[in-house]
Amino acid sequence: MRNTITKDIAYCQELLRNNELVAIPTETVYGLAANIYNDDAVRKIFEMKGRPLFNPLIVHIHHSDQLSSLAKSVPKAATKLAARFWPGPLTLILEKNTSVSDLVTAGKSTVAIRMPNHPLTLKLLQGLDFPVAAPSANPFTRVSSTSAQHVADYFGNRIPAILDGGPCTVGLESTIVGFDGETVVVYRKGGISIEAIEACVGKVRLFIKNENAPQAPGMLAKHYSPRTKLILSDNILKAMEGFIDQKIGVLAFYESNFFNAKVVETLSEKRDLNEAAKNLFAALHRLDQESLDIIIAQRFPNEGLGISINDRLERAGN
Ligand code: TXA
Ligand code: MG
Repeated sequence: MRNTITKDIAYCQELLRNNELVAIPTETVYGLAANIYNDDAVRKIFEMKGRPLFNPLIVHIHHSDQLSSLAKSVPKAATKLAARFWPGPLTLILEKNTSVSDLVTAGKSTVAIRMPNHPLTLKLLQGLDFPVAAPSANPFTRVSSTSAQHVADYFGNRIPAILDGGPCTVGLESTIVGFDGETVVVYRKGGISIEAIEACVGKVRLFIKNENAPQAPGMLAKHYSPRTKLILSDNILKAMEGFIDQKIGVLAFYESNFFNAKVVETLSEKRDLNEAAKNLFAALHRLDQESLDIIIAQRFPNEGLGISINDRLERAGN
């Protein structure tokens, strides 16, 4: 029998053509991919993840030319953002064409599209005559996967193949933006900072969440969660005082000298927010395997990818 974890692109393409699921590497997190034009294949994604059908999927492409078959219209700001950031961790929400099934978009009139920046996945997509829909390769509400092994730990051989592209280089999901006319609206903070987007298209609007009508369920309060309880704190030492005699795991930005902790994960000794983002989910996976009573995570500086890291940690703690 073949190993589930593979580097064989042709084999993965064959599975996708046969409407099977394949986990694919991207620069953000691993995705669980299927042919967007086959509803049976797409349905397998929702089943495998235990994901509610109201939560739409992102369509992954390898060339901007594919936009015209997927989207009805492309605002100027979208074209500009795609030219600047694709391939890369940016997802555009556009008015959808009828060719995109309601299953992929959860009945919405819009479709989410991105071009991932990973050499293996771009090569895989180039050899297919359809784009793939791919949510993050983790069970619904759990911590995303940033390595092939994380995906295997979650799903084992229930997935026919996991294309191994090594550890993800960005480590946070894509930033998701939509358009209100030419105004850019940020739905999910992610691998591209708000500052970088504003440098390209000017001031953006942050989508204000409405829990009753979640526009982007990546914004649901509970998400990205380890099984261990997690709290977010501005002062780790002080927070630790509330858990005396308990098994504490610490998730810190650059410090490591928390002597009363059982385990400490330091995300970037050189205080680099991009490096911290890259290491975040792997550290959460490791902490979650330590049978801890509590994970105390540090609140990150509110700038650049620190904003996206705080977003994930807030939801992980819910
Ligand atoms: O980096 C990423 O975006 C990764 C990799 C695999 O590409 N994918 C990912 O997918 O994070 P997922 O399914 O875990 O998160 C996609 C988010 C969901 O919160 C979904 O609700 C939102 O995108 N979304 C998809 N289509 C949408 C639409 N038409 N309108 C609003 N939100 C949408
Ligand atoms: Mg996800």
